[in-house]
Amino acid sequence: MTYNLLKGKKGIIFGALNDMSIAWKVAERAHEEGASFVLTNTPVSIRMGEIHKLAEACNAPVIPADATSTEDLENLIRQAMEHFGGKFDFILHSIGMSLNVRKGRTYDDLDYAYLMKTLDISAISFHKVLQTARKLDAINDWGSVVALSYVAAQRTLYGYNDMADAKSMLESIARSFGYIYGRDKKIRVNTISQSPTLTTAGSGVKGIDALMDFTDRMSPLGNASADECADYCITLFSDLTKKVTMQNLFHDGGFSNMGMSYKAMNMYNKGLDNFQLTD
Ligand SMILES: NC(=O)c1ccc[n+]([C@@H]2O[C@H](COP(=O)([O-])OP(=O)(O)OC[C@H]3O[C@@H](n4cnc5c(N)ncnc54)[C@H](O)[C@@H]3O)[C@@H](O)[C@H]2O)c1
Repeated sequence: MTYNLLKGKKGIIFGALNDMSIAWKVAERAHEEGASFVLTNTPVSIRMGEIHKLAEACNAPVIPADATSTEDLENLIRQAMEHFGGKFDFILHSIGMSLNVRKGRTYDDLDYAYLMKTLDISAISFHKVLQTARKLDAINDWGSVVALSYVAAQRTLYGYNDMADAKSMLESIARSFGYIYGRDKKIRVNTISQSPTLTTAGSGVKGIDALMDFTDRMSPLGNASADECADYCITLFSDLTKKVTMQNLFHDGGFSNMGMSYKAMNMYNKGLDNFQLTD
């Protein structure tokens, strides 16, 4: 079902790698809802991924940018403004990566150079995007900026590693910049805290299958899919959510407010028969 919610709106979408990416689904939905946008990702992801297929389907230009480079971001935003003939209305930041996770370094054995990269790519890049857009006065009044987060920012989940620290920082940046951008330009800044989702980044999370099964059993509405996340993003880019800002919005079927569910309790009881406490 389409509602023309983004008719006439323009934006930049970061992070569509392949058709499993949350950003890919957001681009498809934004296109259906009447938006025009620029797609961006790192040069290597553009070479290795399938973004050109999406670009063709959505009639969107692809402009490479490493979101940790302010020079790349400036170039991207300037080119996007040239393409649109002026300012635009929304940005999706759908970016995350941890070298510690990739290289199998546990949270009590972090490589600190990798940690700095995790924070730069997964959190500080959001500040860089916001600061560059503001300096170039690139976003229309009442525009909307959304980044994707995860409940590990608030609660400890086995195996999420230094990405938990990155997500805490990401959500903090949304609040701090949301104040400034709201005050000066009526631009809203929010994060969506999404259920675990099977994507390339999601597959990097330790035990993702078991985690997804657990969160699904714990959530009264079940896990939220990437398509459902895209729907939620569309509402935040639309004019229907003009006074929502500086929020971390849970999109997780209710998981974040659960303690124990009937379904999870049943599994726990079964598993307990074979469970031996070793320490
Ligand atoms: N998959 C999940 O379980 C889940 C749950 C909650 C939140 N999220 C968040 O959703 C967002 C999107 O992830 P996804 O699950 O769609 O996976 P994905 O792997 O499809 O997307 C991650 C994207 O980040 C991009 N990226 C990495 N380094 C970059 C850089 N330096 N500059 C620009 N782009 C860069 C990658 O190229 C890729 O397109 C991430 O912030 C992720 O943490 C994912």
